[in-house]
Amino acid sequence: MNSTDSPAPAATGERVLSGMRPTGALHLGHYHGALKNWVQLQRDNSCWFFVADWHALTTHYESPEVIASHTHDMVVDWLAAGVDPAQATLFVQSRVPEHAELFLLLGMGTPLAWLERVPTYKEQIANLKDKDLLTYGFLGYPLLQAADILIYQARWVPVGADQVPHIEMSREIARRFNTLYGKDAGIETRARAAAQRLPEAERARLLALRRAADQEGQLEQREQARALVAASKLARADKDALLAQVDGGRRTILREPEALLTPESKLPGLDGRKMSKSYGNSIAIREERASVEQKIRRMPTDPARVRRSDPGNPDHCPVWQFHLAYSDQACREWVRRGCTSAGIGCLECKQPVIDAVLREQQPMLERAQPYLDRPHLVRDILDDGCERAQHAARETMRVVREAMGLRPGDAS
Ligand code: TRP
Ligand code: SF4
Repeated sequence: MNSTDSPAPAATGERVLSGMRPTGALHLGHYHGALKNWVQLQRDNSCWFFVADWHALTTHYESPEVIASHTHDMVVDWLAAGVDPAQATLFVQSRVPEHAELFLLLGMGTPLAWLERVPTYKEQIANLKDKDLLTYGFLGYPLLQAADILIYQARWVPVGADQVPHIEMSREIARRFNTLYGKDAGIETRARAAAQRLPEAERARLLALRRAADQEGQLEQREQARALVAASKLARADKDALLAQVDGGRRTILREPEALLTPESKLPGLDGRKMSKSYGNSIAIREERASVEQKIRRMPTDPARVRRSDPGNPDHCPVWQFHLAYSDQACREWVRRGCTSAGIGCLECKQPVIDAVLREQQPMLERAQPYLDRPHLVRDILDDGCERAQHAARETMRVVREAMGLRPGDAS
């Protein structure tokens, strides 16, 4: 089953975890593409949101000095968007060094091939040509992300589609850890007896597939091994024993998380491409009023509408996308009629968008103000969140070390 087919979390207080790299002040694309969703999730779930500052270092290891201020600005925007520290735990990755310990331990048994085949790996190296990303840290990006998730035993991870392969890999890593260190001795004996009842050729094939799956982390082989057992003529109990063995005969030490796919934002950038600070087509969550007005007034429109008297086509105009995100039916009809008949001018058409964006920002500005007046409030929220996070992370690490036989006798 694909994890993205999963139902949305019910109001059961399940643990939800997500992180963002500290990029500084966020824009409306972040709001519509992620934060709005976080705010909804926090009501009915145990939400943990963190600043992935070590992840920022995997690509920006040459400029660590900006991370602290970027973290502060980003967290203010989370709070502005309505993320509520009374409902969710907000923290900073680097202040819970247990993430690094789990990352290190998971790294021991993670096949290099798993990391190399993550789609973003080669893409990013090709896209960010001006940076040397042939580093150990960048290769380890998804493994660090897996540690972030698994250390909190998170059930749901709200992310965009681009992050789904990382969550899939976190699942594989949890499964592999449970296989390696959660062995249940009884299963081996039962499985060995069951295998004796398989025809010789099938038994040999199953053994080869299991070896490949366990030692090289080959996922296809594990799938084939399961299919072989399922198709065999063995009794139910024998099949169960063999399937448990294929899956590692394990107990669950680290929980397998599931991606909770965030619906894509309807809001593009000012030029119609994806909103992104690096494209220079974004509006910040806390953008100044005058600047919002100016940016939207300067937005490109249907290139065919050169003069006011030329009719236009909203489908060729980025402003229309903003109307789709912000305007009601009546306003949209007014735009379509006015544009295609040259009945309205583009500045006129943009005014309702300007008003809607300002209206959306107003409560966010109000929520941000106390944190701008008293920055220590942000520090207090993070201090508190980091402490709670560390408490949870330490508990997992205790279980992990015990399963691996590390630090025997250490009661911490
Ligand atoms: N890789 C994520 C991104 O770029 C950020 C991230 C780091 C994350 N660790 C995480 C997201 C754990 C979810 C869970 O957006
Ligand atoms: Fe775009 Fe509106 Fe101008 Fe038509 S009238 S081109 S939709 S800005």
